[in-house]
Formats: sequence, C-alpha cells, structure tokens
Amino acid sequence: MEVIEALARARLLPLLTVQGGEDLWGLARVLQEEGVGLLEITLRTPQGLEALRTLRDSGLLLGAGTVRSPKEAEAALAAGARFIVSPGLKEEVAWLAREEGVPYFPGVLTPTEVEKALELGLFVLKFFPAEPFRGAQVLRAYAEVFPEVRFLPTGGIKEEHLPLYAPLPNLLAVGGSWLLTGDIPLARARIRTARALLTPQAQG
Ligand code: 3PG
Repeated sequence: MEVIEALARARLLPLLTVQGGEDLWGLARVLQEEGVGLLEITLRTPQGLEALRTLRDSGLLLGAGTVRSPKEAEAALAAGARFIVSPGLKEEVAWLAREEGVPYFPGVLTPTEVEKALELGLFVLKFFPAEPFRGAQVLRAYAEVFPEVRFLPTGGIKEEHLPLYAPLPNLLAVGGSWLLTGDIPLARARIRTARALLTPQAQG
C-alpha cells in the first residue's frame, strides 16, 4: 500500500530512461523537494539497473519500468526496485510480484485486458499508451464500468494534457517522461506545474 499511497499523494509518476550522464542524484533531490516520492526507471537501456542501484538509498520509492519478464523483474527487485511496471499484462510477472509482495502495474488498453487484470487481483493498472488512444476519454468511460480500478495513464502525456486527466475519478497518477529533463531547474518547473494542474484544489 505504501507505493499506492505515495502515488495518490504525488498524482505523478515521473519516468526516466537512463542514457548515461544524467545527474541522478540531482533529479532525485528535486523530486523529493517537490513532494514526489517516487521514480520509475525503465529497463529499456542497460543503464537502468545500475541507476536503480545508484538511487536505492535515495529515499525515493523506486520502480522498474518496461519489465517484460520475471527475470527482469527479479533483477530490478535485487537492484532496489519496490514496484514493477510493464507495457502490457504479463501473468508470470504478476505471479512473481505477488510472491515477492511488491505492487505490479501492468499496462492495459481494452476492457478485456482490464477484466483479465482484475481476474489476477490487480486493481491499479497502467493505461498505455494513453494519448494515442485518447486516454482521458477512455478512462472516463471505464470509471462507469470498472469503478474499482484506479489508473496510471502513461504514454505521450505532456503538460497540456493534464487538465483532461485531473478531474477523472479513477485517476491514481499520471506517468510520463516529459517531467525529467537533463536540465534540473526545468525539471523542477515541470514537476511544479504538473502537480498544480493535477491537485484537486487546482480544478476550482
Ligand atoms: C512508458 O514506458 O511508460 C512510456 O514510454 C512513457 O511514455 P512517455 O515517454 O511518452 O512519457
């Protein structure tokens, strides 16, 4: 529950694909100072696991993203990940995550995929890729038929889309890589703006 509570507080899940040369500690500090206690690091590059190891004692709740197999999930957990995110629903990863007692957020798009995730006992789902599939409109429809599910829309989302997602009753947090640029002051500004757009008070 710790991860889900942190997501609910942050309303954001910043996502980083490490290329090398990033100021990881600088980004971690900005996230903490701006009240975002989580970071998803993707395993899309070989530097991902190393970055998890680097930040494992940063105080952030680290997640591993783009996890496609149980082997990758195991490596990520050993490197310090506390939650697992996949682009699609991978049953073997769901079983491993349950055994290890860590949250697993698989990507879904269709109602059938949502039903499949629910059968596996998964109630917090990544909605991916959100923007090409008009995520805010789809999630509004899902709120009616799947009221027990909370979503992490991710994929192509930028600042200008946030007002569409902010009022959704089934939004847990918005995920995205646009927040974390190599320019630390710019990353801070983007996080601040995003948080302001996503907090309930900001909607008047
Ligand atoms: C992901 O891995 O979830 C996506 O690549 C994130 O999408 P974005 O880079 O468009 O934010």
